[in-house]
Amino acid sequence: RPRVLSGIQPTADSFHLGNYLGAVRNWVAMQDTHDAFYCVVDLHAITMGHDPATLRNRSRISAAQLLALGLDPERCTLFVQSHVPEHAQLGWVLSCITGFGEAGRMVQFKDKSTKAGQDSTSVGLFTYPILQAADILLYQADQVPVGEDQRQHLELTRDLAQRFNTRFGKTFTVPSPYIVKDTAKITDLQDPAIKMSKSASSPNGIIELLDDPARSAKKIKSAVTDTGREILFDEENKPGISNLLTIYAALTSRAIDDLLEAYDGRGYGDLKKDLAEVLVEFVKPIQERTKLYLDDPAQLDKVLAIGAEKARAVSTATLATAYRNVGFLSPA
Ligand code: TYM
Repeated sequence: RPRVLSGIQPTADSFHLGNYLGAVRNWVAMQDTHDAFYCVVDLHAITMGHDPATLRNRSRISAAQLLALGLDPERCTLFVQSHVPEHAQLGWVLSCITGFGEAGRMVQFKDKSTKAGQDSTSVGLFTYPILQAADILLYQADQVPVGEDQRQHLELTRDLAQRFNTRFGKTFTVPSPYIVKDTAKITDLQDPAIKMSKSASSPNGIIELLDDPARSAKKIKSAVTDTGREILFDEENKPGISNLLTIYAALTSRAIDDLLEAYDGRGYGDLKKDLAEVLVEFVKPIQERTKLYLDDPAQLDKVLAIGAEKARAVSTATLATAYRNVGFLSPA
């Protein structure tokens, strides 16, 4: 079975619909076809400033949501990044083969650091993608299921794997991105020109899975749509309605063409009303299951401890090989 690894940041009280449709939905599907490793990347979550108690809480909420969305610890390895020290250790080694200019070209770094200003930009934000490469390479992942916004980080990961292998001998699998085009970029409901995002979206532009379903329904109904009245899938000229069709199709496993046929001759209002209902029915059971997992934190922590142990069985072996190949003296 091919190996996959992916991660998600515990930087909000809820995942949003983009996280689910762009990434986690594929994680769930890949449990049965791949040897799957998924992590809550708390080391990454401290690169922009944070509150310790909130972070701890969000790490649990993130794990609970992943379970509620369908990750099954019997069929995948679910763990918290900081429980596996090899991530930070390999991150250091990889940072020493990454060019300063190379890291500086990462678009997410440029965006986030420009917004924060130089004095509030941490060195950790700069080295963030190198740690992400370590996450992936430690598990010898063949594929990495992510949304479109992670493509550049995966290019860097591939470059670092190849560079390390060339300089120090074959050590890492060179991973491929696994990006499902249809849902790779869910856009903001109020501004279809940008992606739905916890940092950039306005409150009405983002659907949070754990938010009050009635409020989410309202956000769908007030989503920005396009001029004209016809329901067409045309991402260039009708980005708003196309985004709603993408979400609708993904949540119901229906083809876009099938939806176009069903809404032929009907108006935007009908489509929004139906999608709002679909969304409410989708989030309700997820919210219930998330709450059940959160009501038993001891059990949740146990699941994560078992996950960390399974992850370490792989990560310690890869790190040992990387350390040996890079020239570190083996401890006697
Ligand atoms: P994060 O936590 O920002 O997002 C988690 C996943 O959700 C995807 N995503 C989207 N997909 C479609 N449309 C959107 N609007 C949308 N918004 C977010 C992201 O592409 C991502 O797959 N750097 C990563 C976390 C990470 C990681 C890793 C990922 C750390 N180490 C190793 C893969 C492998 C991030 O910030 O994701």
